[in-house]
Amino acid sequence: MFFGNKGIIGLDIGSASLKLAEIKSSRSGYQLKNIGEAVLPPDSIVKKVITNRDAVAGTLSNLVRDLGVKNKNVVISISGHSVIIKKVTLPSMSKNELAESIPWELEQYLPQSVEDVNFDYQVLPEVSPEGNMDVLIVAAKKDITNDYVSLVRSVGLNPMIVDVDVFALENMYEVNYTDMGGVIALVNMGASVSNINILKDGVSIFTRDITTGGNQFTEWIMKEQNVGFEEAEQSKQSLGHGEIPFELERITNDYIDLITGEVKRTLDFFSSNFSQDRISKIILSGGSSKVPNIVETLQDITDIDVELANPFNNIAISDTEFDPNYISDISPKMGVVVGLALRRIGDN
Ligand SMILES: Nc1ncnc2c1ncn2[C@@H]1O[C@H](COP(=O)(O)OP(=O)(O)OP(=O)(O)O)[C@@H](O)[C@H]1O
Ligand SMILES: [Mg+2]
Repeated sequence: MFFGNKGIIGLDIGSASLKLAEIKSSRSGYQLKNIGEAVLPPDSIVKKVITNRDAVAGTLSNLVRDLGVKNKNVVISISGHSVIIKKVTLPSMSKNELAESIPWELEQYLPQSVEDVNFDYQVLPEVSPEGNMDVLIVAAKKDITNDYVSLVRSVGLNPMIVDVDVFALENMYEVNYTDMGGVIALVNMGASVSNINILKDGVSIFTRDITTGGNQFTEWIMKEQNVGFEEAEQSKQSLGHGEIPFELERITNDYIDLITGEVKRTLDFFSSNFSQDRISKIILSGGSSKVPNIVETLQDITDIDVELANPFNNIAISDTEFDPNYISDISPKMGVVVGLALRRIGDN
């Protein structure tokens, strides 16, 4: 799944919007070449399943045209229920033996047959002292992956890599953050899923997608105020621009409690089952990180420092080509797409 190519474009097919980014790398570092976002009509992608193919394809081809994208080679990513990520410990063995045993290993964790998934694996650098090896296996439902791939092909693009949101986030972090010591949690709060990747000394030790995101909040506003999706989205997105209107105060607080509570539960699960090491920082991204008070609340209930991600920390952006206000406005949502756009040949 992770075969790379030179000069690739990142395309994040989110449930709320499509994001596209092109980043040039040279000896002097990374430079942003192109970036943009196009909002999808409501319910075009439901729970990460493409339900309105024409709407997504139409929005994508408009975005590609509007941004003047020339390069056809793209890297996309998937997330949510259709992806299973598993770290297994196996006795040390040869490459061939490993290739043979992976499907057998996978069989234990899959609700479906191995034939129904695409999978890839990677031996992790740390070798356990007793002659064991840790292997990271990633499996994705074939039908879902094929839907994404064929959608992208249908607008004339060439999908070279199918990545996974949590690993794209990790890639974004590696490029932008130099101090990688200790245990940190990358948390990306989207529209239908929230992705979590916990790294120890820069290496992923735990990943999880939780199926709560901003759509839930929008649905509550629609019900409470008896309005349609677009109007509810608008009310929600203007919450950060001043006092929270009285009539939205309660559901705003309920939503903040719900999403931060779910993240905390996942981090607690990690701490009690995977590692005694204290998580020293949460790096938060995703459109839903813009809900007012979310950073403060997450910090309060977890007692962990929360910092908003800056996916452009180490990427040069020309002030004349890109409006700095636009960049700072979209930057919380661009974590995954920047990680995708940074994929290169030979990456895994
Ligand atoms: N200013 C804002 N205030 C509150 N919520 C916001 C704001 N801007 C965006 N959002 C919410 O963020 C969500 C979109 O985030 P994002 O773009 O990260 O999701 P996505 O990648 O499209 O979806 P997913 O990854 O879940 O499929 C939407 O629910 C949107 O309403
Ligand atoms: Mg997303």
